[in-house]
Amino acid sequence: MTALTTSPRLAPPTVRVRESYLTGEQADMVHRGSDTSWLADASRDFAQFVADRVGVRERWGVPSEVFWFTAEEHYIGSLVIRHQLPKDDLGGHIGYHVVHPWQRQGHATTMLGQALTIARGLGLDRALLTVAADNAPSLGVVRRNGGTPDGTNSDGQLRFWIDTPTAP
Ligand SMILES: CC(C)(COP(=O)(O)OP(=O)(O)OC[C@H]1O[C@@H](n2cnc3c(N)ncnc32)[C@H](O)[C@@H]1OP(=O)(O)O)[C@@H](O)C(=O)NCCC(=O)NCCS
Repeated sequence: MTALTTSPRLAPPTVRVRESYLTGEQADMVHRGSDTSWLADASRDFAQFVADRVGVRERWGVPSEVFWFTAEEHYIGSLVIRHQLPKDDLGGHIGYHVVHPWQRQGHATTMLGQALTIARGLGLDRALLTVAADNAPSLGVVRRNGGTPDGTNSDGQLRFWIDTPTAP
């Protein structure tokens, strides 16, 4: 396993992690049995791929921002913060994944913690997360960040609210 010499942080997508992003996402897609063809496009023009993901953009009909969780040249995972809840009630404020080679090392737990601080800076007092009832890893991540259950959405996903941290 690669030893990190600095603590990973959420930051805007960057070309600095090109190799690690492409190999990490490829490993993750293969592990999940998912289509990897989008990675060929990403590798052809990675600078454009990154540029298309930086900043606040309209996604799911609401302003949203993508962050990558990185340490130096290492890419660990991605996270999106939606500034408002989508109108269809299907998603929460925050979604995330950690690529397979970096899973089960506490990264998603740390990543969500950092995202809650960013969300507070956006004016959100609390964040909604929706998780499939059989997604044990994500339920662990939400639990470790203090998620309070609030029923299910129209898709049957479990809803959790997490208070965002006030400034120290
Ligand atoms: C969910 C996900 C982000 C977790 O990432 P991670 O970095 O491995 O999570 P952590 O290491 O912070 O682990 C958090 C908790 O889940 C547990 N966990 C992690 N992987 C697990 C697995 N495969 N099976 C069961 N439990 C698991 C950890 O042990 C920990 O639980 P604990 O508090 O009881 O010790 C990752 O599995 C993933 O990207 N999955 C695919 C995308 C996804 O489901 N995203 C979330 C949608 S709501």
